[in-house]
Amino acid sequence: MTIVTEATRLRIRPLGALGAEVTGGSLDPLSAADEATIKQAVRDHLVLRFRGYNLDDLAFTRLAERLGTLQPSPDYTRSRKVYSSESPAMTIISNVKENGEAIGEHGDGELNWHTDLAFTDYPSEYTMLMAREVPAAGGNTWFANMYKAYEAMPDALKERVAKLKMKHQASHNAQGGTRPGYKDIETNDVREMPGPIHPILRTHPVSGRKALFLGRRFGAYIPGLPLAKSEALCDELWSYAALPENTWAQEWQVGDLIIWDNRCTMHRRDSFAGQGRRRMHRLCTRGTRPE
Ligand code: SIN
Repeated sequence: MTIVTEATRLRIRPLGALGAEVTGGSLDPLSAADEATIKQAVRDHLVLRFRGYNLDDLAFTRLAERLGTLQPSPDYTRSRKVYSSESPAMTIISNVKENGEAIGEHGDGELNWHTDLAFTDYPSEYTMLMAREVPAAGGNTWFANMYKAYEAMPDALKERVAKLKMKHQASHNAQGGTRPGYKDIETNDVREMPGPIHPILRTHPVSGRKALFLGRRFGAYIPGLPLAKSEALCDELWSYAALPENTWAQEWQVGDLIIWDNRCTMHRRDSFAGQGRRRMHRLCTRGTRPE
């Protein structure tokens, strides 16, 4: 238990269906009171934005470590093993190429709705993105409130999926390419693709609230159902995942830091093709097996 004696200097302003802006105080060093405020705020608002704090990578890493155990992305999702020897769990999300080689992941295209590392046994708890370079236009990151997605589902659908699970295929990336660790798997049949099986409804271990838990739509399969039934049920579930009234978009400025909780949100990114360089530094904390 954290005993907090001093008062927090941080201020929290809600931004929409989810998300809040944090202002004031200092993130480095971070007092116990301010740490408690951040943890409560992310529990309440699911996504936090910090603007104008000017953290370098080491200060960013120190802050991230206060939220949990840092978890590097699996090697097969990264173009380089280590980007920064000072912060080995950090990955780069970028369209920038140096000497003809990508310095990071994901290029400049749209990224569809997903949950970070849902295709592993231990999906990330928090993801943190720090904007180092932003494009002239596009590249906004959208968030969906998965508690509200669950609440929007009709009772009959909630009951139908209460005991069902979903396979989050791990062998193929969002573009349909085979991931390096899975080169020998050639199937395009989602029933055959390997991947962890998670409950469709999960209970957040801290808030105790139920959330709809989805990864990428591509490659999702509900074990035990015939393919056509699984596809139809997946489509129905995804139709509740990101209702416009349950989403909020981050429009990036250089230096913005966003922290989100993957246990109760999904996110996607707009394309920014032709709009210049974008470079985000990313840290994630290790999550627990969804239940
Ligand atoms: C991600 O989904 O991992 C990256 C999001 C972004 O580039 O805004």
